[in-house]
Amino acid sequence: MKRDLISIEDLSLRKILEFLDLARRIEGMPLAERAHLLDGRLLGVLFFEPSTRTRLSFEAAMLRLGGRTIGFSEVASTSVAKGESLSDTIRTVEQYCDAIVIRHPREGAARLAAEVSRLPVINAGDGANQHPTQTLLDLYTLQHLFGRIDGLRIALVGDLKYSRTVHSLVHALAKFSGIEFVLVSPESLRLPEYVKAVPEGRLQARETTDLNEAIATCDAIYMTRIQRERFPDPLEYEKVKDSYLLDRAALRRAKPHLKVLHPLPRVNEIAPDVDATPHAAYFPQVGYGLIMRQAILASLLGGMS
Ligand code: NCD
Repeated sequence: MKRDLISIEDLSLRKILEFLDLARRIEGMPLAERAHLLDGRLLGVLFFEPSTRTRLSFEAAMLRLGGRTIGFSEVASTSVAKGESLSDTIRTVEQYCDAIVIRHPREGAARLAAEVSRLPVINAGDGANQHPTQTLLDLYTLQHLFGRIDGLRIALVGDLKYSRTVHSLVHALAKFSGIEFVLVSPESLRLPEYVKAVPEGRLQARETTDLNEAIATCDAIYMTRIQRERFPDPLEYEKVKDSYLLDRAALRRAKPHLKVLHPLPRVNEIAPDVDATPHAAYFPQVGYGLIMRQAILASLLGGMS
């Protein structure tokens, strides 16, 4: 059976732990050995939405494992601009390569691609829905930083309504034990009820609009950008766009071990003066992303587990 990575809800805790373990093994593997894991394999990278990290890290991961990539990063240069359907694009690209990574503005697009294709399909973000590979790298980052994930007190801050990275991360963290969630957002951008209703039962979560409270009590803060492109009404965006700013002064009341994560890009929610503090973990997080995406490709294309 072909293997896809579409939603974090499709993964058991055991499967998530296997990905974390594989990433650790790949990180420890001699470069010369790693460089041939996917020799001769070709990855299709189809990005219907802007991206820097996700696209480049998938491409870098594939190249570093000895594979190659083809793809596009804007629809204007493809037949989609002529009106081609998503299924036809997928049925075409699958004739050329061995697996597909897709990012699309529409919720459910990656699932549809997986249904029409005989190749493994990886969801690199579908609208405001899910971003499972970001979540795996977020978990890998937490494990590196704290040596564990169980029992952490984690604040999710900003646009909890539209951030797909938050939706996936909440579902994954709920599978671990004793996670205490602090959900910090403006009233209008609270975590949707359907995300809170995790299969493990009701989320242990404190909801607040106050970032300072989270700074003082948490082990990790996961900042997010207000997702301007997902707002139906630009005026609503204007009202909330500057809701939170985490700066060095605000971090004075933090526990010494507090770590700040962010899927990036940041707009104005983390001041540059945080970058040089020991709390900043968002650029190392990018590096762990490259490792985790190597693990995902090695698993889906190279049969590693
Ligand atoms: C995120 C995304 O695309 O959802 N970016 C990413 O993949 N690292 C977050 C965002 O765009 O705010």
